[in-house]
Amino acid sequence: MRSRFLITFLGSLFVIICSMVAIFWLLLFAINGQASSPVQLYKSVTQQKQITYDEQEALVTFRKIAKENPDDLMKPNIRQSIDTYEMKGLNIVIRKQDEILYHSPDLIVKSLIAHAPKFDTENIYTQGTIDNKGSLYRYLKFDFHFSDNDKGSVMILKQVNSFAEFLQRWGFIIITLILAIAVFLVILFNRSLNKAIIVPLRELSKKVQQLKEGKLEGKIEISTSKGEVSELAQEFEKLREALNRVSKENRKYEENRKELLSNISHDLKTPITSIIGYVEGLKDGVADTKAKQDKYLNIVYNKAKSMNFLIDDLFVFSKLDLQKLPFHFEYIDLKKFLVHFVEEYQLDLEQKDIHLTLQDVHLNKAIVRIDVQQIRRVLDNMIQNSVKHMNKEEKRITIIARQEVETVSITVQDNGAGMAVENLEMIFDRFYRIESSRNSDKGGSGLGLAIARQIILEHGGTIKADSKLGEGTSITFTLPLKENGDNEGNSISGG
Ligand SMILES: Nc1ncnc2c1ncn2[C@@H]1O[C@H](COP(=O)(O)OP(=O)(O)O)[C@@H](O)[C@H]1O
Ligand SMILES: [Mg+2]
Repeated sequence: MRSRFLITFLGSLFVIICSMVAIFWLLLFAINGQASSPVQLYKSVTQQKQITYDEQEALVTFRKIAKENPDDLMKPNIRQSIDTYEMKGLNIVIRKQDEILYHSPDLIVKSLIAHAPKFDTENIYTQGTIDNKGSLYRYLKFDFHFSDNDKGSVMILKQVNSFAEFLQRWGFIIITLILAIAVFLVILFNRSLNKAIIVPLRELSKKVQQLKEGKLEGKIEISTSKGEVSELAQEFEKLREALNRVSKENRKYEENRKELLSNISHDLKTPITSIIGYVEGLKDGVADTKAKQDKYLNIVYNKAKSMNFLIDDLFVFSKLDLQKLPFHFEYIDLKKFLVHFVEEYQLDLEQKDIHLTLQDVHLNKAIVRIDVQQIRRVLDNMIQNSVKHMNKEEKRITIIARQEVETVSITVQDNGAGMAVENLEMIFDRFYRIESSRNSDKGGSGLGLAIARQIILEHGGTIKADSKLGEGTSITFTLPLKENGDNEGNSISGG
């Protein structure tokens, strides 16, 4: 990843440099009207400067001597003329064959011999540029013959501060500098790239690795807060949250399942153990009188019956939990249904000295869509609960039905033992029984209200409990009223 970025960067650098060279060349072409070769370029750069008057004058002077009395150039007198021009910043060279007879002190012989222009009797090429130990000199040259017919040259040299020389002198430093800047920029660019992308991506990948290992806690945070990588990190954070949520739900579900299993085993084990105990008592002859035997048998019968209830409840609950309990909804007139239900129960409860009454508040042709059998199960459990926890002299259970705007609420109210507020939320949890009812021999699976809640939820309603310890309890559930025009042609009956 990192090297790929570097390659991309260097690649673009290369492209930029190539384009710059191409543009430079095009510009030169546009200006010069010809495609300059590097040599031509060099020449045009070095020959820019005009030949000065001093140079020309020096040339004229020495040319005259060389033409008229070439041997004078070998005589010491010539130093006067040479001095004159050297004072003016010019350099003079006198050459005989390959030997340098005279050169100005600034020049170096070795370099002169190496770079000196060729002898040219016709004096066609009289100008040029030579290098002398790193410095560029422009020369004017006149070639002639000495009296002994040896080839001779007189040259007037002037150091030129040309671009080429500048380049020669500073080029290395400039190129090094440019390279250094480029390298610096590459490093800088790489650093920022690193900081903005590579490092956060690495952090992210580490975090994702942890996710993979199942470490779902701990927010995914990276060192940048902007840009695509940060957005990616935010997406990953959402993913982590979702995974964490699902995992927690699964864990909770798993715990629930374990708890459920242990509850069921416990609740089945207890009555079975006592059944075994009593049956053994009968077999071993411990119950030796008819009255004792009847008592034992009665206990066994009741235990078995309560187990049967428990298993029934479990069956219903597991079906509800798996959403496999079929609901048969029908539209019914709630008032008719409740009147019928209360009438049925009244007789039964009358024998236990309990007064069951129905109160309706504005119940005016309230049509609800319910599964009659299931709502009956809900009400049954509530009445049973009230009966079980009844502890008053005057025992009252009241069913109150209230019509509201879009719902009807049905409350089963008793004046029984009541519950402490902290228990109210839990009584709808499966297997939850308040300690007092768990210990007492009132029976029950602790599933009744859990089942009731599931059923009410299936009906699109809500359920809640109100209670005051020692005073009584009311459990209220709601059912949606049939909307006007919401007629599916089902029969409307009284339940
Ligand atoms: N009317 C009530 N009065 C007092 N306690 C109640 C009443 N209804 C429910 N409870 C408490 O709520 C618990 C859960 O009720 P439920 O789910 O029907 O289970 P079960 O009746 O099998 O014990 C009961 O064990 C009891 O402690
Ligand atoms: Mg119950």
